[in-house]
Order: sequence, then C-alpha cells, then structure tokens
Amino acid sequence: MATQAPAARPANPRFSSGPCAKNPEFSLEQLADAPLGRSHRAAVGKAKLKEAIETTREVLGIPADYKIGIVPASDTGAMEMAMWSMLGARKVEMLAWESFGAGWVTDVIKQLKIDAEAKTADYGEIVDLAGVDTKNNDVVFTWNGTTSGVRVPNGDWIADDREGITICDATSAAFAMDLPWDKLDVTTFSWQKVLGGEAAHGMIVLSPKAVARLESYTPAWPLPKIFRLTKGGKLIDGIFTGATINTPSMLAVEDYLVALNWAKSVGGLKGMIARADANTKAIADFVDAKDWIANLAVDPATASNTSVCLKFTDDRIQDGAAFAKAVAKRLEAEGVALDIGAYRDAPAGLRIWCGGTVETADVAALMPWLEYAFEAEIAAQ
Ligand SMILES: Cc1ncc(COP(=O)(O)O)c(C=O)c1O
Repeated sequence: MATQAPAARPANPRFSSGPCAKNPEFSLEQLADAPLGRSHRAAVGKAKLKEAIETTREVLGIPADYKIGIVPASDTGAMEMAMWSMLGARKVEMLAWESFGAGWVTDVIKQLKIDAEAKTADYGEIVDLAGVDTKNNDVVFTWNGTTSGVRVPNGDWIADDREGITICDATSAAFAMDLPWDKLDVTTFSWQKVLGGEAAHGMIVLSPKAVARLESYTPAWPLPKIFRLTKGGKLIDGIFTGATINTPSMLAVEDYLVALNWAKSVGGLKGMIARADANTKAIADFVDAKDWIANLAVDPATASNTSVCLKFTDDRIQDGAAFAKAVAKRLEAEGVALDIGAYRDAPAGLRIWCGGTVETADVAALMPWLEYAFEAEIAAQ
C-alpha cells in the first residue's frame, strides 16, 4: 500500500493531450523574431510561412512532389476541407475507433450525405484493416485515435496501386510516428499536439494523386472560401508556398518554427519518435507491474505512443467514472498531473500524453503518484 505521498514530483505536470506541453527549452523570448503587426503577405511574413512549410517537409521527410499547406481552423479545418473538396467521386470507406474518427463519419454520412460504408470498433479496439478495400475505394481514417490511445500499426494494409485516395487525420501521430507518405494522399495535423505548438492553423499534405483528384473532380455541393483549394479547375499553388487563404497568426507561425527547430535539435523525427517511445515505455513498465490498472488498447501492437489511455481494473471500485475523475482531480490538486482525465466521450480512465515535448523523467516521476492517488481513492470510497 502506497499511502505516503511520493517524494519526487514531475518537474512539469503538463500531460494534456492538446494543447500539449511546450518543449522543455521553450521560453517566450524565443518568439521575439515574430513579425508582429506586419502583413502576412509582406516579404517577411511570406518568408516565415514558406520556412514553416519547408521545415515541416524536412523534419517529416515529406517527398518533394507533395504539397504542404497551412490552412484555417486547425486539424478539423484541414480534414473538413479535404473531405468536402475530394469525396463523392467514388465509394468511400470511413474507419473509426474513437470520438474524432466518429466525428468524420458524421461529417461524411450525415452532413455530406455520402452513402459511405462506416467501419467502426469500440474504444480500445481497431477495425479489421485487412478488410478495407483500399484498392478501389476512398478511405478516411485517423492514424492515432487520441481519445482511445489506439493507432494503426503501419500502412501495409494500404494498396500501392490504389485507384481511390486515402485521407488520414494524423494530428496526434505526426512527429511521433513513422508516416508512410507513399500510402497517404491527404494527411492533416495541427501545431498544438506533438510539437507543443500553438493552436490555430491546420496542416494539409497532398500527394500528387490528391492534387489530381482536386483538379479532376468538382463536388456537387457548395464550398466556402476557406475550403477552396482550386480555382478554375487548377490547384491554387500559392497556398502551398505560404500565400494562405486568409490571415494566419504570425505569432503562432513563429512558435511553430521554434518548435520545429527544437525537434531538429533532438534528432528530428527519429529523435521525436524515440522520446515518445521512451515516455510510453515508462508507463507500460509501471502498468505491467500492477494488477489494478491496464492500457485501454487491447492489442499492444496498436497501442499509441502519444495519447496513452489507461483504465482502472480493480473490482473494489464502485463507480468507475467517479473514481477515475477523483484520481485525476487528486493528482491535479497535488500539482503533479494536469488535464489527464479521459476524454469526455471515452470510457472512464486516465490519458497521459507521451509526445516528444514531455520528458521521460516526468512520466516516470508521475507513476508512483498514480498508485498513491489510486490507494487514496480506494480508501475514500
Ligand atoms: C485525432 C484528432 N482529430 C482531430 C482533432 C481536432 O483537432 P483540432 O482541435 O486541431 O481541430 C483532435 C483533437 O484532439 C484529435 O485528437
């Protein structure tokens, strides 16, 4: 029984799944070069936006013939712009295993009214990827389900000779997992997740196939200006060189550049993956040694290395939801973990962000506190 509060505390208690912790070297002074009060269309603004695009390409290893754009409304904006602009040309399969994937299903079936096939799995599980017809259909999926801590293990299930396109929400995967660009036609993410950047803008990465779809297909529904990627049947190239559709925050752009440069300083994508893996292992080692807590992900091969979701499994627990909330509240009150309650629509439990901006020493220091709070809440029941 761990009734005594542990002596050590995480130096940084920020384990939120978005906005995620700033990198450990971050300070506001690093944003001093932001061209505040200047037009984003001035040379200085355009240069910053272009640098953000090309540094993204460099860190993520995105092929030279893929287009990268900075778009409005964060990851949701990027995903909805893709779905509204490109779907409806052929049969669509929608894959979902948690809240955000389910949101894209609602978009496509209820709002766009596309007769799509939805394949869903419960929290902790994943759909049968081998059964997805990636050769013939358009496929929309989430690389890492942030609210269930379940990710696709790789892109091997996606056909190389596909005729449809893949649209992948990679917002809690980019900069922490290997994304096989040859399998992904549209990839989206935002800045506030793995890089710990500021929330505002979305990133959209388009393969040549995605560009071909945009230039050969016009959806039957109207598109608002902030979704429009083409003009007169041609891609608006400027969007992919920094001439954004509307006004971005140059402060957020500067912060993104700082975050990208920090990622480079820790070994780029490889270094970021290693940091996330080490954080996740610190939790897995702890959980494996305890019989009262478990990973929500049923199959370790699909367990996330960013949004690690945990459930309490002790049969002394009377009200699972109240118990998990009380544990999270106690850890927050102790100042050792902020924002680690499970997502509102997910099963009761905890969610501990393990992306690369989080320090492994902090994750490790948090583990004894989980036991302390667990024991305290069992005693308090
Ligand atoms: C998988 C996934 N998709 C989409 C979103 C929404 O992202 P945003 O708020 O950047 O639009 C989130 C946010 O947590 C997410 O985890």
